[in-house]
Amino acid sequence: MTSEAGNDFARDVLRGLSGLPKSLPCKYFYDARGSELFSDICDLEEYYVTRTEMVLLKSMQEDLGSVLRPDTVVVEPGAGDGTKARLLLSAMPGRRAYLPYDISRSALDELGARMQDELPEVRTLPLHAQFNDQERIQQNLSEAFPDWPRLLFFPGSTLGNFAPDAAVELLGSLADLVGEEDHLLVGIDLVKDTAVLEAAYDDASGVTAAFNKNLLQRVNRELDADFNLEQFRHLAFFNRNDSRIEMHLVSECQQTVAIGSQRFDFSPGESIHTENSYKFTLDRFGELASRAGLLVERYWTDPQQWFAQVLLRRQGGVPA
Ligand code: TRP
Repeated sequence: MTSEAGNDFARDVLRGLSGLPKSLPCKYFYDARGSELFSDICDLEEYYVTRTEMVLLKSMQEDLGSVLRPDTVVVEPGAGDGTKARLLLSAMPGRRAYLPYDISRSALDELGARMQDELPEVRTLPLHAQFNDQERIQQNLSEAFPDWPRLLFFPGSTLGNFAPDAAVELLGSLADLVGEEDHLLVGIDLVKDTAVLEAAYDDASGVTAAFNKNLLQRVNRELDADFNLEQFRHLAFFNRNDSRIEMHLVSECQQTVAIGSQRFDFSPGESIHTENSYKFTLDRFGELASRAGLLVERYWTDPQQWFAQVLLRRQGGVPA
């Protein structure tokens, strides 16, 4: 990690743990170990999200082949290993290009290797970047793929990890990366039975718990802290009022944790809120999108209506 990024991490952690209630930003889950654990989560029986979305994307391949224009470049924030984009890219007409970006270098390395193996004909330009590195992405796009139609692909329900106002802002800034005749394709997880939702974020084998706790391990390692992982418990529940899964790390006892020279007290049962995962209805998502200046052109869902892919374009864009 560069020292600049290290400073951001220290600042965000200290700020989050100084707040009431305590919290930690979820983007720091994804160090090498966290990315590994996350990919294990995606294979869990209880975590229906990835499986459902993959089947959905496959069922859309034919439609997408006709909706998308030939010679499109797929732009993907937080691309991970790019498995979902490969489903799109393999179904698209004409020359194809792919500009994935991610904060995890290990994920990007794997992505590069897999693209080379599976779709070597697609021009791929992986970038190490954050969601808010707009200018750099824009610049790379216009230099490498001037005049190509663009598809901004944002699957995985990652948008659901942002609170509504932040989600509107993020959607708006992603929309700035595409032109008025281009599209965005956004994956959203839909509201469903509470037991199904909660099991997905609290699996029986404890992988999600390990993923959540890995954040404390990372703080220990990178910020000279002494969290005792045995004294924090993983908690995930569906908050129906706010329509979101909340993940927390709950202190099992009265304890004091040192981070560098600073001390943080935890009372028994006090939690660190580590993540939200918002669950949508199609109507509610339509409203959110319209606040970001986007119109729903069409959507696809799986037979159980557990997950949706929504095709959007900028308001004022020319309808296809
Ligand atoms: N964005 C996905 C979701 O909310 C993936 C994800 C992010 C996730 N953090 C997670 C899944 C923690 C399980 C646990 O579902």
